[in-house]
Amino acid sequence: MRKTDRNAPVGVFDSGVGGLTVAREIMRNLPSEKIVYFGDTARLPYGSKSKETITRYSRQIIRFLMAQQVKAIVIACNTASAFALDEVRHEFDIPILGVIQAGVEVAAAETRNKRIGVIGTEGTVGSGIHASYIKKIDPSITVIGKACPLFVPLAEEGWVHDPVTTEVARRYLEPLKEQEIDTLILGCTHYPLLRSTIREVMGDEVRLVNPAYETAVQLGRLLEENDYTCEGTGPEEFPYRFYVSDLADKFNSFANSILPYDVEMTRKIDIEKYRNDRPGTLPEGPGQAE
Ligand code: DGL
Repeated sequence: MRKTDRNAPVGVFDSGVGGLTVAREIMRNLPSEKIVYFGDTARLPYGSKSKETITRYSRQIIRFLMAQQVKAIVIACNTASAFALDEVRHEFDIPILGVIQAGVEVAAAETRNKRIGVIGTEGTVGSGIHASYIKKIDPSITVIGKACPLFVPLAEEGWVHDPVTTEVARRYLEPLKEQEIDTLILGCTHYPLLRSTIREVMGDEVRLVNPAYETAVQLGRLLEENDYTCEGTGPEEFPYRFYVSDLADKFNSFANSILPYDVEMTRKIDIEKYRNDRPGTLPEGPGQAE
Protein backbone atom coordinates (compact mmCIF):
# COMPACT_ATOMS: atom_id res chain seq x y z
CA MET A 1 0.00 0.00 0.00
CA ARG A 2 1.35 3.44 -0.95
CA LYS A 3 2.05 5.90 1.83
CA THR A 4 0.20 9.11 1.01
CA ASP A 5 0.90 12.61 2.20
CA ARG A 6 -2.39 14.51 2.49
CA ASN A 7 -0.57 17.73 1.58
CA ALA A 8 0.70 16.21 -1.66
CA PRO A 9 -0.59 17.69 -4.96
CA VAL A 10 -3.42 16.35 -7.10
CA GLY A 11 -2.43 15.18 -10.59
CA VAL A 12 -4.55 16.43 -13.51
CA PHE A 13 -4.07 15.47 -17.15
CA ASP A 14 -5.44 15.97 -20.64
CA SER A 15 -4.19 15.79 -24.22
CA GLY A 16 -3.54 19.55 -24.15
CA VAL A 17 -5.04 22.76 -22.82
CA GLY A 18 -8.59 21.42 -22.40
CA GLY A 19 -7.95 20.00 -18.94
CA LEU A 20 -7.07 23.52 -17.79
CA THR A 21 -10.83 24.16 -17.73
CA VAL A 22 -11.01 21.49 -15.02
CA ALA A 23 -7.83 22.66 -13.24
CA ARG A 24 -9.35 26.15 -13.15
CA GLU A 25 -12.40 24.86 -11.24
CA ILE A 26 -10.19 22.91 -8.83
CA MET A 27 -8.20 26.10 -8.18
CA ARG A 28 -11.40 28.05 -7.51
CA ASN A 29 -13.23 25.46 -5.43
CA LEU A 30 -10.40 23.69 -3.59
CA PRO A 31 -7.96 26.58 -3.14
CA SER A 32 -5.69 24.84 -0.64
CA GLU A 33 -5.01 21.92 -3.01
CA LYS A 34 -1.82 21.87 -5.06
CA ILE A 35 -1.87 20.65 -8.66
CA VAL A 36 0.58 18.95 -11.00
CA TYR A 37 -0.83 19.34 -14.52
CA PHE A 38 0.26 17.36 -17.57
CA GLY A 39 -0.83 18.20 -21.16
CA ASP A 40 0.12 15.57 -23.73
CA THR A 41 0.66 18.17 -26.46
CA ALA A 42 3.02 15.97 -28.50
CA ARG A 43 0.34 13.32 -29.02
CA LEU A 44 -2.80 15.45 -29.24
CA PRO A 45 -5.50 14.90 -30.47
CA TYR A 46 -6.68 11.93 -28.43
CA GLY A 47 -10.17 12.01 -29.95
CA SER A 48 -9.27 10.23 -33.19
CA LYS A 49 -7.12 7.50 -31.61
CA SER A 50 -8.02 3.97 -30.51
CA LYS A 51 -8.93 2.78 -27.03
CA GLU A 52 -5.67 0.77 -26.86
CA THR A 53 -3.53 3.81 -27.69
CA ILE A 54 -5.32 6.13 -25.27
CA THR A 55 -5.14 3.53 -22.49
CA ARG A 56 -1.39 3.15 -23.08
CA TYR A 57 -0.89 6.93 -23.02
CA SER A 58 -2.99 7.21 -19.85
CA ARG A 59 -0.89 4.56 -18.09
CA GLN A 60 2.32 6.43 -18.96
CA ILE A 61 0.93 9.72 -17.69
CA ILE A 62 -0.33 8.15 -14.47
CA ARG A 63 3.18 6.72 -13.89
CA PHE A 64 4.66 10.17 -14.48
CA LEU A 65 2.19 11.82 -12.08
CA MET A 66 2.77 9.14 -9.43
CA ALA A 67 6.50 9.80 -9.75
CA GLN A 68 5.62 13.41 -8.83
CA GLN A 69 4.12 11.98 -5.59
CA VAL A 70 0.53 13.05 -6.29
CA LYS A 71 -2.16 11.78 -3.90
CA ALA A 72 -5.02 11.47 -6.42
CA ILE A 73 -5.49 11.86 -10.19
CA VAL A 74 -8.16 13.58 -12.27
CA ILE A 75 -8.39 12.44 -15.87
CA ALA A 76 -9.48 15.85 -17.19
CA CYS A 77 -10.18 14.41 -20.62
CA ASN A 78 -13.43 12.79 -21.71
CA THR A 79 -11.76 10.59 -24.32
CA ALA A 80 -9.30 9.13 -21.80
CA SER A 81 -12.09 8.86 -19.21
CA ALA A 82 -14.26 6.97 -21.72
CA PHE A 83 -11.49 4.65 -22.91
CA ALA A 84 -9.14 4.13 -19.99
CA LEU A 85 -10.72 5.03 -16.63
CA ASP A 86 -12.25 1.62 -15.88
CA GLU A 87 -8.97 -0.17 -16.54
CA VAL A 88 -6.47 2.18 -14.90
CA ARG A 89 -8.61 2.60 -11.80
CA HIS A 90 -8.00 -1.07 -11.00
CA GLU A 91 -4.36 -1.11 -12.03
CA PHE A 92 -2.95 1.72 -9.92
CA ASP A 93 -2.91 2.15 -6.15
CA ILE A 94 -4.22 5.72 -6.19
CA PRO A 95 -7.73 7.26 -6.37
CA ILE A 96 -8.53 8.21 -9.99
CA LEU A 97 -11.48 10.35 -11.09
CA GLY A 98 -12.81 10.92 -14.61
CA VAL A 99 -15.01 13.72 -15.98
CA ILE A 100 -17.93 11.87 -17.51
CA GLN A 101 -20.02 10.94 -14.45
CA ALA A 102 -20.15 14.56 -13.27
CA GLY A 103 -21.63 15.93 -16.52
CA VAL A 104 -24.10 13.12 -16.85
CA GLU A 105 -25.53 13.65 -13.36
CA VAL A 106 -26.03 17.39 -13.92
CA ALA A 107 -27.61 16.89 -17.36
CA ALA A 108 -30.01 14.19 -16.17
CA ALA A 109 -31.13 16.45 -13.32
CA GLU A 110 -31.53 19.51 -15.57
CA THR A 111 -33.36 18.20 -18.62
CA ARG A 112 -37.10 18.91 -18.75
CA ASN A 113 -38.03 17.40 -22.09
CA LYS A 114 -35.71 14.39 -21.56
CA ARG A 115 -33.70 15.08 -24.69
CA ILE A 116 -29.99 15.54 -24.02
CA GLY A 117 -27.30 16.26 -26.61
CA VAL A 118 -23.66 15.26 -26.10
CA ILE A 119 -20.83 16.80 -28.10
CA GLY A 120 -17.34 15.38 -27.85
CA THR A 121 -14.51 13.80 -29.79
CA GLU A 122 -15.09 10.94 -32.21
CA GLY A 123 -13.74 8.53 -29.58
CA THR A 124 -16.00 9.76 -26.78
CA VAL A 125 -19.17 10.00 -28.86
CA GLY A 126 -18.43 6.66 -30.57
CA SER A 127 -18.01 4.96 -27.18
CA GLY A 128 -21.63 5.81 -26.27
CA ILE A 129 -20.53 6.17 -22.64
CA HIS A 130 -22.66 9.22 -21.82
CA ALA A 131 -25.79 7.50 -23.11
CA SER A 132 -25.09 4.35 -21.12
CA TYR A 133 -24.54 6.33 -17.88
CA ILE A 134 -27.64 8.50 -18.49
CA LYS A 135 -29.82 5.44 -19.19
CA LYS A 136 -28.79 4.05 -15.80
CA ILE A 137 -30.10 7.21 -14.14
CA ASP A 138 -33.28 7.51 -16.26
CA PRO A 139 -33.95 5.07 -19.12
CA SER A 140 -36.63 7.37 -20.57
CA ILE A 141 -34.07 10.05 -21.54
CA THR A 142 -33.09 10.22 -25.22
CA VAL A 143 -29.40 10.99 -25.82
CA ILE A 144 -28.18 12.38 -29.13
CA GLY A 145 -24.41 12.44 -29.69
CA LYS A 146 -22.44 14.52 -32.17
CA ALA A 147 -18.69 14.37 -32.69
CA CYS A 148 -17.09 17.79 -33.31
CA PRO A 149 -13.46 16.92 -34.16
CA LEU A 150 -12.48 20.38 -35.43
CA PHE A 151 -13.30 22.02 -32.10
CA VAL A 152 -10.10 20.74 -30.43
CA PRO A 153 -7.61 22.25 -32.93
CA LEU A 154 -9.63 25.50 -32.97
CA ALA A 155 -9.46 25.71 -29.17
CA GLU A 156 -5.75 24.79 -29.11
CA GLU A 157 -5.16 27.54 -31.68
CA GLY A 158 -6.96 30.03 -29.45
CA TRP A 159 -9.60 30.79 -32.11
CA VAL A 160 -12.30 31.15 -29.51
CA HIS A 161 -14.03 34.21 -31.00
CA ASP A 162 -13.58 33.75 -34.71
CA PRO A 163 -15.96 33.60 -37.68
CA VAL A 164 -14.35 30.33 -38.78
CA THR A 165 -15.19 28.76 -35.42
CA THR A 166 -18.76 30.09 -35.62
CA GLU A 167 -19.21 28.55 -39.07
CA VAL A 168 -17.78 25.20 -37.92
CA ALA A 169 -20.03 25.30 -34.85
CA ARG A 170 -23.09 25.95 -37.04
CA ARG A 171 -22.35 22.92 -39.19
CA TYR A 172 -21.89 20.65 -36.20
CA LEU A 173 -24.67 21.97 -33.99
CA GLU A 174 -27.58 22.72 -36.35
CA PRO A 175 -28.54 19.02 -36.56
CA LEU A 176 -28.65 18.90 -32.75
CA LYS A 177 -30.91 21.94 -32.64
CA GLU A 178 -33.26 20.19 -35.04
CA GLN A 179 -33.46 17.29 -32.57
CA GLU A 180 -34.96 19.70 -30.01
CA ILE A 181 -32.61 18.92 -27.17
CA ASP A 182 -32.99 21.18 -24.10
CA THR A 183 -29.63 20.27 -22.50
CA LEU A 184 -26.19 19.91 -24.10
CA ILE A 185 -23.22 18.26 -22.39
CA LEU A 186 -19.87 19.76 -23.36
CA GLY A 187 -18.33 16.29 -23.45
CA CYS A 188 -14.78 17.37 -24.21
CA THR A 189 -12.76 19.50 -21.81
CA HIS A 190 -11.63 21.73 -24.69
CA TYR A 191 -15.19 22.78 -25.53
CA PRO A 192 -15.84 25.15 -22.58
CA LEU A 193 -13.16 27.33 -24.20
CA LEU A 194 -15.58 27.75 -27.14
CA ARG A 195 -18.58 28.19 -24.89
CA SER A 196 -19.67 31.63 -26.14
CA THR A 197 -19.71 30.43 -29.76
CA ILE A 198 -21.60 27.27 -28.82
CA ARG A 199 -24.06 29.40 -26.83
CA GLU A 200 -24.56 31.76 -29.80
CA VAL A 201 -25.38 28.88 -32.14
CA MET A 202 -27.53 26.85 -29.71
CA GLY A 203 -29.47 29.84 -28.34
CA ASP A 204 -30.37 30.66 -24.75
CA GLU A 205 -33.05 28.00 -24.34
CA VAL A 206 -30.54 25.13 -24.34
CA ARG A 207 -28.75 24.54 -21.04
CA LEU A 208 -24.98 23.98 -21.58
CA VAL A 209 -23.40 21.57 -19.09
CA ASN A 210 -19.69 21.98 -18.39
CA PRO A 211 -18.70 19.07 -16.13
CA ALA A 212 -15.63 20.91 -14.77
CA TYR A 213 -17.31 22.44 -11.74
CA GLU A 214 -18.99 19.18 -10.66
CA THR A 215 -15.71 17.33 -11.20
CA ALA A 216 -14.01 19.69 -8.74
CA VAL A 217 -16.83 19.05 -6.25
CA GLN A 218 -16.48 15.27 -6.76
CA LEU A 219 -12.72 15.58 -6.25
CA GLY A 220 -13.30 17.39 -2.95
CA ARG A 221 -15.56 14.53 -1.85
CA LEU A 222 -13.06 11.88 -2.98
CA LEU A 223 -10.25 13.55 -1.02
CA GLU A 224 -12.44 13.74 2.08
CA GLU A 225 -13.45 10.10 1.84
CA ASN A 226 -9.81 9.09 1.68
CA ASP A 227 -8.73 11.50 4.40
CA TYR A 228 -6.54 13.21 1.82
CA THR A 229 -7.79 16.79 2.11
CA CYS A 230 -4.88 19.22 2.26
CA GLU A 231 -4.41 20.61 5.77
CA GLY A 232 -3.72 24.07 4.35
CA THR A 233 -0.13 24.46 5.37
CA GLY A 234 -0.16 28.12 4.43
CA PRO A 235 0.42 29.85 1.12
CA GLU A 236 2.77 27.91 -1.11
CA GLU A 237 5.11 29.69 -3.45
CA PHE A 238 4.47 27.29 -6.35
CA PRO A 239 1.18 25.51 -5.69
CA TYR A 240 0.70 24.61 -9.36
CA ARG A 241 3.21 22.92 -11.65
CA PHE A 242 2.73 22.43 -15.38
CA TYR A 243 4.30 19.86 -17.69
CA VAL A 244 3.76 19.04 -21.36
CA SER A 245 5.20 16.59 -23.87
CA ASP A 246 5.86 19.33 -26.49
CA LEU A 247 5.77 23.11 -27.16
CA ALA A 248 5.99 24.31 -23.57
CA ASP A 249 6.04 28.04 -24.41
CA LYS A 250 2.84 27.91 -26.46
CA PHE A 251 1.10 26.01 -23.68
CA ASN A 252 2.42 28.42 -21.08
CA SER A 253 1.00 31.52 -22.73
CA PHE A 254 -2.34 29.79 -23.29
CA ALA A 255 -2.47 28.70 -19.64
CA ASN A 256 -1.84 32.28 -18.61
CA SER A 257 -4.75 33.47 -20.70
CA ILE A 258 -7.30 31.22 -19.03
CA LEU A 259 -6.15 30.51 -15.47
CA PRO A 260 -6.73 32.77 -12.46
CA TYR A 261 -3.05 32.30 -11.65
CA ASP A 262 0.23 33.50 -13.09
CA VAL A 263 1.93 30.50 -14.73
CA GLU A 264 5.63 31.27 -14.70
CA MET A 265 6.93 28.21 -16.42
CA THR A 266 5.79 25.03 -18.15
CA ARG A 267 8.32 22.23 -18.43
CA LYS A 268 8.62 19.78 -21.30
CA ILE A 269 9.20 16.14 -20.34
CA ASP A 270 9.79 12.92 -22.25
CA ILE A 271 6.58 11.03 -21.48
CA GLU A 272 7.71 7.96 -23.43
CA LYS A 273 10.19 7.37 -20.60
CA TYR A 274 7.23 6.31 -18.49
CA ARG A 275 6.46 3.43 -20.82
CA ASN A 276 6.12 0.10 -19.10
CA ASP A 277 4.59 -3.12 -20.28
CA ARG A 278 3.42 -4.14 -16.84
CA PRO A 279 0.42 -2.09 -15.71
CA GLY A 280 0.54 -0.27 -12.40
CA THR A 281 4.30 -0.10 -11.97
CA LEU A 282 6.59 2.89 -11.91
CA PRO A 283 9.40 3.34 -14.46
CA GLU A 284 12.91 2.28 -13.68
CA GLY A 285 15.44 5.00 -13.07
CA PRO A 286 14.88 8.51 -11.74
CA GLY A 287 11.22 9.30 -11.22
CA GLN A 288 11.57 13.06 -11.37
CA ALA A 289 10.78 15.12 -14.42
CA GLU A 290 13.79 16.58 -16.12
N1 DGL B 1 -9.89 17.34 -24.15
C1 DGL B 1 -10.05 15.98 -24.49
C2 DGL B 1 -11.41 15.42 -24.19
O1 DGL B 1 -12.04 15.87 -23.25
C3 DGL B 1 -9.35 15.45 -25.70
C4 DGL B 1 -9.36 16.22 -26.95
C5 DGL B 1 -8.49 15.57 -28.00
O2 DGL B 1 -7.28 15.51 -27.78
O3 DGL B 1 -9.01 15.10 -29.03
O4 DGL B 1 -11.85 14.49 -24.83
